[in-house]
Amino acid sequence: MNLTFGKGWVAMLVLVSLSGTVIAANAQAQGKTSSAGENAPAFILPALPYAQDALEPHLSARTLSVHYGKHHQAYVDNLNKLAVGAKMTGQSLESIILQSAGKADQAGLFNNAAQVWNHTFFWKSMKPGGGGVPTGRLAEQINVSFGSFDAFKTAFSEAAMTQFGSGWAWLVKDGDMLKIVKTSNADTPLAHGQTALLACDVWEHAYYIDYQNRRKDFVQTFLDHLANWDFAASQME
Ligand SMILES: [Fe+2]
Repeated sequence: MNLTFGKGWVAMLVLVSLSGTVIAANAQAQGKTSSAGENAPAFILPALPYAQDALEPHLSARTLSVHYGKHHQAYVDNLNKLAVGAKMTGQSLESIILQSAGKADQAGLFNNAAQVWNHTFFWKSMKPGGGGVPTGRLAEQINVSFGSFDAFKTAFSEAAMTQFGSGWAWLVKDGDMLKIVKTSNADTPLAHGQTALLACDVWEHAYYIDYQNRRKDFVQTFLDHLANWDFAASQME
């Protein structure tokens, strides 16, 4: 199972400490800090891979400010508190997700850990000037699995539209085949032995500021203008 966000991927994370000094740490995409000291939070919010206004006009800076700066940050903060209570500090994000998945008494821990992972993956599933068509082996696998790229887009949109309430639409690799799956709330392909390739957040907080109730328009825009096929292809490796 591919438990990482891509071979060799490293993010520069910047954490502003309470004293106002800036602590920079090279860390994995999951937000695990490596040099901020024993009193620093175990997980920190990974840096966005682009500026908050970089996805305009398709997703506004206001949306990213709230979605990334408030929602994603809150999941990180909650995870840090719950990991202490569960005595899971020092473990990787993936380990916490896999250990807590399906356990009713650890639902809060799973939900926040999975949402940290899902959102970090979601930001990388988009890029300025995205959309278009995949190429290379990913394009071949999409044709094999869905018949054509257009058929994939139709099926992905259908999954995103029919996810009732909050959740996610995913392109995943499951064994030798690519599949489209939808997950509810914080659930994640990682907990089901699938390798995520591309994610679209269909919680209302992902699109309501820009698209109000028009989830279909958001999903269409995601596919036509935002989807990062280079990132998706990198997750197949
Ligand atoms: Fe979200």
